[in-house]
Amino acid sequence: MEFRCIPASLSSSLGACDTVAIGLFASPQNGPEGSSGPSHEGGFEPLDPALAEALGAELEPWLRQRRFKAKPGECLSLQRLGQQPGSVILVGLGEAASYALSSLQEAAAAAARCALASGSVQLGLALPLAGLDPAEAAAAMAIAVRLSLYEDQRFKGEPQARPLPQRIDLIGLPAEASNGLARVEATCAGVELARQLVAAPPNVATPQHLADTAASIAQNHGLSLKVLERGDCEAAGMGAFLAVAQGSDLPPKFIHLTYTPQGGAQRRVVLVGKGLTFDSGGYNLKTGGSQIEMMKYDMGGSAAVLGAARAIGQLQPAGVEVHVIVASCENMISGGAVHPGDVVTTSKGKTIEINNTDAEGRLTLADALDYACGLEPDAVVDLATLTGACVIALGDEMAGLWSNSDGLAEALLKAGAAGGEALWRMPLRASYKKGLKSGVADLKNTGPRPGGSITAALFLQDFVTQGLPWAHLDIAGTVWSDKGRGLDPAGATGYGVRTLVEWVCRGASSGN
Ligand code: BES
Ligand code: MN
Ligand code: ZN
Repeated sequence: MEFRCIPASLSSSLGACDTVAIGLFASPQNGPEGSSGPSHEGGFEPLDPALAEALGAELEPWLRQRRFKAKPGECLSLQRLGQQPGSVILVGLGEAASYALSSLQEAAAAAARCALASGSVQLGLALPLAGLDPAEAAAAMAIAVRLSLYEDQRFKGEPQARPLPQRIDLIGLPAEASNGLARVEATCAGVELARQLVAAPPNVATPQHLADTAASIAQNHGLSLKVLERGDCEAAGMGAFLAVAQGSDLPPKFIHLTYTPQGGAQRRVVLVGKGLTFDSGGYNLKTGGSQIEMMKYDMGGSAAVLGAARAIGQLQPAGVEVHVIVASCENMISGGAVHPGDVVTTSKGKTIEINNTDAEGRLTLADALDYACGLEPDAVVDLATLTGACVIALGDEMAGLWSNSDGLAEALLKAGAAGGEALWRMPLRASYKKGLKSGVADLKNTGPRPGGSITAALFLQDFVTQGLPWAHLDIAGTVWSDKGRGLDPAGATGYGVRTLVEWVCRGASSGN
C-alpha cells in the first residue's frame, strides 16, 4: 500500500482514482449558536460548489433523499458506470465543532472498508483538514486505512484472496504533510504484530512463542535480547512470577529486549507488558460468564510492548534507549499449582499472600517492575489486561491510566490522542491500599471488589522505586473488540502500540 499527498483540489484530481471518498460534515444539531432549532434537520453541510458541479447537480438531492446524515463514519457509495472515478463514497465526519484526528481516522477507516467492497485499486481520500495539523492528519489517515483493512486468516484452512487498494491519494494535503507518513509503515507493522500475537490461540502463542518473537525482532531490527529461564528467575528471587508459572507444563520465559540508539542516549525508558498466554484463573478458576475461553488475550500487554519494540527497531529514534520486559507464563491448574493462601517472596524481598490465584497478572508484574526499576530508567510504563473492574469502569474504548507523575501522564495522554487510542486517567488513591493489608504477609494480592482496578494499580506501585516516574495502563477492555470499531476490525486491536511509539519517538526530542 502506497500513500501520497496530493496538494491539488479535489475537483481537479477526480480523474486519477477509480474511487474517491469525500468527507461531509453534519449540520449542527442545535443550529448555529444563538439560534433555536436545527438548521438542516439532522442533515449534512452543503458540498463545496466546485465539487458539487464536478459530481453533478443531482448528487445533493440524492443524498438528502437517502437521508444521509453525515454521522461519524456513515458511508454511502455511488456507482457511476463508465465515468472516472467510477465510484464515489460519501463519508460522514460528524459535526465540525467536534472534529478531531479521531474523527478523521474513523472516516478514513469507514471509507477504506467501503472502497474495498467495491474493488478499488486506486483510492482517493478527500477529507478536510479543518485546522488539523497536515502531517498529523496524513499519518492518521494512512494508519486508519491500513489498519482497518487488516485481516488475519492464519488459522483458516483455505484463506481467501482479498485484493487491497494499492495506491491511496490523500487529496488536498500539502506536499510537506508527507513528513507525517514516515512513521506509518513501522507503526502499522507493530500494531499488526500485536494483533497477530493476541489473536493467536493459546496453544500457539505460548511463552516460548513470545520469546521466539522477541528473538526475531532482535535479529531483524538490531535489538539485543536476554531471556531468563526458570532457573535464572529462581536465582533472581522472582517468587511471585514463578508462583504463577508453577501450575503450567510450559516453562516460563522472562524476556528482556533492548534498543540502543546510535550516537548515545539522553534518556532510558522501560516498557513492561503482562504476558499471560492463558489465564484459567488457577484454583480460583474462572467460572461461567468470566470468559475463560477469551483468556488467550491476557498477553495483550506483552503484544503491545513487542509490537512497539518492532516499530522502534525499525524507526531507530535517536537519543532514547528502550527496554522491553515481559514476564511470560500461563496461569493453570495442576498438583503443583499455587494454592489460594500461599505466601511468596518477590525479588524485592516483599512477601505476598496470594488470597486469589486469579489476580495473577500483578504477581508477574511485581517481579517484572522490580527488574525494570533495577535498570535505573527515567520512566517505566506497564501495560496489562489487569482487571475486569477496569472494563466495568471504562468499557472497551478507553484504557485506564494510573501514574505517580503528572508529566508522564500528560505525555501519555497526548501520545494516545495523536495515535488515536483513548486513555482515561484514574486515581492512585493511597487510602485504598488498606484493602491489600494481609494478616500473614506484607500484603495480599486482592482487595475488595469496589475500586478493584485502583487497588490493582496500588499493588503494582509497591514494586516501583519511589520517585521514579511510572505509569500503568489497564488495557483489559481495549485489547479486543467483539464487533470491531473505528479502525479496528473485529478481534484483536493491537491497542497500545501507537501510544507507545508516539510517546517514545516524541519523548526522545522533547524530554517528556
Ligand atoms: N486477566 C484478568 C483480567 C481480565 C478480565 C482481563 C476480563 C480481560 C477481561 C485478570 O488476571 C483477572 O482475572 N483479574 C481479576 C482480579 C480479581 C480476582 C481481583 C478480575 O478482574 O476479576
Ligand atoms: Mn486472572
Ligand atoms: Zn489475567
